[in-house]
Order: sequence, then C-alpha cells, then structure tokens
Amino acid sequence: MLILNKTAGVFFKPSKRKVYEFLRSFNFHPGTQFLHKIVLGIETSCDDTAAAVVDETGNVLGEAIHSQTEVHLKTGGIVPAVAQQLHRDNIQRIVQEALSASRISPSDLSAIATTIKPGLALSLGVGLSFSLQLVGQLKKPFIPIHHMEAHALTIRLTNKVEFPFLVLLISGGHCLLALVQGVSDFLLLGKSLDIAPGDMLDKVARRLSLIKHPECSTMSGGKAIEHLAKQGNRFHFDIKPPLHHAKNCDFSFTGLQQVTNKRIMKKEKEEGIEEGQVLSSAADIAATVQHTMACHIVKRTHRAILFCKQRDLLPQNNAVLVASGGVASNFYVRRALEILTNATQCTLLCPPPRLCTDNGIMIAWNGIERLRAGLGILHDIEGIRYEPKCPLGVDISKEVGEAAIKVPQLKMEI
Ligand code: KG4
Ligand code: ZN
Repeated sequence: MLILNKTAGVFFKPSKRKVYEFLRSFNFHPGTQFLHKIVLGIETSCDDTAAAVVDETGNVLGEAIHSQTEVHLKTGGIVPAVAQQLHRDNIQRIVQEALSASRISPSDLSAIATTIKPGLALSLGVGLSFSLQLVGQLKKPFIPIHHMEAHALTIRLTNKVEFPFLVLLISGGHCLLALVQGVSDFLLLGKSLDIAPGDMLDKVARRLSLIKHPECSTMSGGKAIEHLAKQGNRFHFDIKPPLHHAKNCDFSFTGLQQVTNKRIMKKEKEEGIEEGQVLSSAADIAATVQHTMACHIVKRTHRAILFCKQRDLLPQNNAVLVASGGVASNFYVRRALEILTNATQCTLLCPPPRLCTDNGIMIAWNGIERLRAGLGILHDIEGIRYEPKCPLGVDISKEVGEAAIKVPQLKMEI
C-alpha cells in the first residue's frame, strides 16, 4: 500500500473491484496497433477535475472537465475538503468520459500522466491515488507532472514553438516568469512575493459582491472583473503600480488588493450602502484594478525580456513570449502584453482561453513531451508522492535583481 504525504489526511483509494468494473466498461481491442504515442492526462491540483487523451501529433482525442467554480463561489473561496470531495465524486466519470470520447481502448494508452505538484494536498491526493490504481490495473508507465511546467508547454501543442522561450504564468495560484530551455529545463526569473493576480482579482470581486451582479453571478472573480471593466473608466482613481522601485522581475498583488479595498470602503460610505451590496461604481473599480495589474505584469515581463536578451538567453529578434494560466485568458492583459512585444520585437503567443485555465489536455501533452524526450517515465510507482509545494526550475531571480535593469516607459494605451 502506498503511503502518501501525511497532510493528505484520509487517503482516498477506490476499491480494486470498482476500478475493474470501470475498465470493463470499455471495449478492449488487444490487436489494434497505434502508430502514435497516446497519453491519458489527469488533473486535480486545484478545483477542476479534468482528463484528456492526446496523441503524439497533438490531436486531442477526448477530453472532459468538471469545474467546481460555482460551488466555491458560494463559499467565498476554495474549501480544500470540499474540493477533495468533489474530485472524489467526479474523477471516475471524467476519466471515463475522456476515454470514451477518444474511442480508444485503455490498453492502447502509451502512459498515464497526472499532476502531482504543486497544488492543494487534498486535491492532488485524489488524482494521484486514482491514477496509481489505473496504472496498476493497466500495467502502463506513469508520468508525474509539474502543473506549472504543463501550463508552460501547452503552447507547443497549439503552435510550432522551439526552445528557448520566455513564459509568463499568471493564474489563481501562481505568478511567475521563467525561461523555458527544454521540456524539463526552466530558469525562474521572478515570482510573486505574496498572492497571485487571479487570487487578487477573486478577492476584489468578492469584496465587490459581484456574485450578486446579474451579469457576473456564475463567473470566476477574474472573469467578472474583465467583464465589468469593459463598462468602467480606468481613470476613475489612481493606484500606484506595486514594487515600483524594485529592479527585479518579482511581483506583488497584496498591496493592490488592500488599496482597492480601502477605495471600496470609501465609495460605500459615499454611496451610503453596506458591504455586501453592489456599488454603482463597481465597473470603474474593476477597470482600475485590471489596468494597474496589467501594467505591473507588463513592467516585470519587460525587464525579463531585457535581461534574457542581455545575457543571450533569448534571440535579439523574434523571441517568443508565451502567456498562460487563467489570468492570461484576460484580453485586456493580452493587449497590454502585445504593446510590450511590439516594442521589444518579440512575438506574443497565448494558448486559447480554455487551454489557459486548468485542463486535462495540458497534462496529457506534457506526458507526450516527456515520452518523446524520454524524461521522467516511471515503470515502478513505489513510493511516489504528491508535493503541495514545488518550485519551478532553477531560481536565478537574485541574479536578475542584481542586474538592476532599468525599464523604459511604455505608453499603455489599451
Ligand atoms: O489557471 P487557473 O484555471 O487555475 C490556477 O491554476 O489557479 O486560473 C484560475 C484563475 C482564477 O483566479 C480566475 O479568477 C482567473 O484565473 N481568471 C481570470 C479570467 N478567467 C479566469 N482572470 C482574469 N481574467 C479572466 N478572463
Ligand atoms: Zn493552473
């Protein structure tokens, strides 16, 4: 029996009989030969239960996802035990749907790839234990996946992108800039010193009670802010961008959240309403927060581009900047990044929004990348554990700060 990280609490293990019955529901074709490698990817690191079957050429043969957003919106944030239970309730169905849609037999899989780090312990545990059962039954290799590496490499499924490239990962749980030199070769240039931008947007949206806004009630905080900001005036009030004087590539979003909260309280007083009601100026606040966040992200990314070019880590012309993660599905942020890439002779590439947020396709694709490179393919799963915390690549952020690169001002007319 496998012993997982103790923080996982009660270990979820579907019975052998249940997994056997699950596998019997597929038609096996033992004689079928597939020319391409095919990987089943499973993702449960946060609040999405997702699975997909992807082949070596990047064809998505089948996919399924169950999002917990609506449940967590009601509780005002992710309650790990609730997320865990929802993963347990849905994982078998989601994997089954992805496999059925792919019309392949599980015996045709080349490997099973699953997110094992970083993420919520209770959530990671469900995906890992389910996957290990499946691996044991099917006698397939197992490929452990780093969630952030998967976000970073998704672009190679949708576009022809060679190494090296710069990646900006901005989501609800993460915020980092890294140079991608290979499938498993990353240099970390900077990261958030506190919360991630998606987390900040979620908190601001909650403080603005956007769940009560008729146009935003089922949207994630970030999506609600983007939607409302279109109707707002970003010049309504002025917020200083964070870490203005720090000449590195780190990020910070807590200060922005606190200043916005103060502004909301002031507006509530002015409008004579209580916390929990929607302000008439909510759209202006959304527009201002979104703009300040975008400018901060652009400034740090600008410095990362200059640093990489200065050190010959990226080509001087046509270097690629990839933006991914839930917040990269925001079109205002994308336009701001486009201003930057135009000014620095770089090319901006973003996966389509549904591949920016968490999904099973990126995990399966990372499995394909690892299979092709012959990296991290396990035939013995004894002792495999999930890791709630796990940095990405080699951290050179101190060196980036020491270079103290001055970033020229860009006109952010978005
Ligand atoms: O990548 P993701 O699905 O999960 C994490 O790994 O965190 O990102 C989810 C985050 C949430 O904080 C959500 O509010 C934010 O991405 N998000 C957005 C948008 N859509 C989702 N933020 C800004 N604009 C959007 N359109
Ligand atoms: Zn993610």
